[in-house]
Amino acid sequence: MDFAEQVKSSVDIVKTISEYVQLKKAGGSPRYTGLCPFHTEKTPSFSVHSSHQFYKCFGCGASGDVFKFVMEIERVSFFESLKLVAERNGIDMPKRDYSDPDSKLRGALMEMHEIAARVFQSNLNAPAGAEARQYLAGRNVTPEQIAEFGLGLSDASWNQLTRQFESRFAPEQLEQSGLVLKRREGPGFYDYFRGRLMFPIHNESGKVIGFGGRALRPDEERKYLNSPETPLYRKSYVLYNLHRAKEAIRKSDYSVLVEGYMDVIGVYSAGVHNVVASCGTSLTNTQVRALKRHSESIVVNFDPDTAGANAAQKSITMLLDENLRVRVLDLGGDLDPDEFVKASGAEVYRQRVEKAPSYFHWLADRARGKFDMRTVEGRMEGFKFIAPAIQRIADRLERFAVANDVANYLGVDEKLVREHFSKGVKEPGPVHRRPDAPPTERLLLHSLLASQAARSLAIPELRDLPAVDRFVARNVFKALFAMHSDGAPFRFADLEGRLSDADRDLLSSVVFADEILEEEKAAEQALACLRSLKSQDPRSEAAALRARIKAAERDGNLQEAMRLAEEVVALDQKSRSVSGTAR
Ligand code: CTP
Ligand code: MN
Repeated sequence: MDFAEQVKSSVDIVKTISEYVQLKKAGGSPRYTGLCPFHTEKTPSFSVHSSHQFYKCFGCGASGDVFKFVMEIERVSFFESLKLVAERNGIDMPKRDYSDPDSKLRGALMEMHEIAARVFQSNLNAPAGAEARQYLAGRNVTPEQIAEFGLGLSDASWNQLTRQFESRFAPEQLEQSGLVLKRREGPGFYDYFRGRLMFPIHNESGKVIGFGGRALRPDEERKYLNSPETPLYRKSYVLYNLHRAKEAIRKSDYSVLVEGYMDVIGVYSAGVHNVVASCGTSLTNTQVRALKRHSESIVVNFDPDTAGANAAQKSITMLLDENLRVRVLDLGGDLDPDEFVKASGAEVYRQRVEKAPSYFHWLADRARGKFDMRTVEGRMEGFKFIAPAIQRIADRLERFAVANDVANYLGVDEKLVREHFSKGVKEPGPVHRRPDAPPTERLLLHSLLASQAARSLAIPELRDLPAVDRFVARNVFKALFAMHSDGAPFRFADLEGRLSDADRDLLSSVVFADEILEEEKAAEQALACLRSLKSQDPRSEAAALRARIKAAERDGNLQEAMRLAEEVVALDQKSRSVSGTAR
């Protein structure tokens, strides 16, 4: 067994995928389902099979094993995925020099970021960090918060990191790090971040992949300097603080979205641990999906200024389009979340988060302020103000429910509302593929997949059964037969590997569609299927026996050939007597 196989057989794919997707067990079976992390959907078509250790989305077709999943979701190479999965399960990687250049580069970049984070932290604690420490103290950031968020300080010298890196890493690696820059004139590099307060940015598995650097003085030209896009840091995928927040997001079943690093720190320290921020870019749908993997509800708490309001509106549209349930926390006044927590206290902020109204009620409240709610016309105007947002809800029933709810809230006649919403966007139905294979094939396949005993008993007979050639899933069976002849230990992934895309789909639709079988019962079931197949077609059974006779003769196994010949005779008699009674 190679190392990857070893890792795969000792980790639980369900546990790994659960780190990213909320999975529900389907009855007493080893199947789990959830919302697909790779496309937008409302009804779960993403399935994970714990005994076959693979996943499949019946909506978008994504499928594979635990490594493939981590590759896709973390956007890493196979090697890195292997390493991640091994690491998380406490399995040591064998010491070898891996030559995949992509992994090598990313490995080097990871190391540089780890070093940089350490260096920045120790700068902040050193005597030269006095001004920065004072700045943080002035903003009521405690030493505990500094440690928890790994805050640091970049050296003002232009070459602190450069000096550390140049001896250890190749120039091509330095060039792509985003931490140092190539000199325009002459050879060598210089530090990208200088004299800034540093916020490390982590990926979902908690590794530092970039930094945000805040100016310490108000007269600085740029308030924030952030890491550029690098092979590690793809901004549109990353949310600040997600690795710390994800557990709390699941527990509370909602996330809180704020704008800034400082807001995250303030809000998190107020005990609201399910908080994240998009790092200085407008929210992307890949970020939204990352959140949605942990919960489908969100509270948006943006800054009170116009920029904040615009950003909030853009984000909310994005969130609604990805089918999240959105609530809005409008703190009033002119304080951002961090300042609000400091001014009013953690408890008050927590209550405000909990009581935050749904986006539609929040809009309705704004409508109340804009239109005269004492008149029917005013109320209808108010309703029309909100209608376009409601119209965007893809699900028809939900659209009606929200419309009615908002109409009630504003005191608008429900009949008018129904008229307004009778025409809506059509909802694309979930794409659930039912298996095309008939029951006997499915049962048989299940039993063969479930147990070695079933395979040993049934495959030698099945192989020669002409009925198999007419199976819908014949290619799957043929692949199973071939594997059986090879004598290698059965692995689901190997079977998949032998199939075309269409047959792979067929296989997964069977595996996920039916109730699962206990291993002990599998052999029995396989034989029952075999009997049933034979009885459906005695002539083909005879033909199969004849083929086996030929094979036995070819092998020089005359005894077996004789025994089979007797079976043919018995079968012929049986079929004659059957047709005899029929006459
Ligand atoms: N941001 C950025 N570049 C800027 C300004 C802002 O990348 N020039 C991003 C940062 O991620 C920042 C967020 O937008 O955290 C919100 O900006 P802002 O409210 O200005 O910063 P705060 O983090 O709230 O910082 P502070 O409270 O120190 O003003
Ligand atoms: Mn702010």
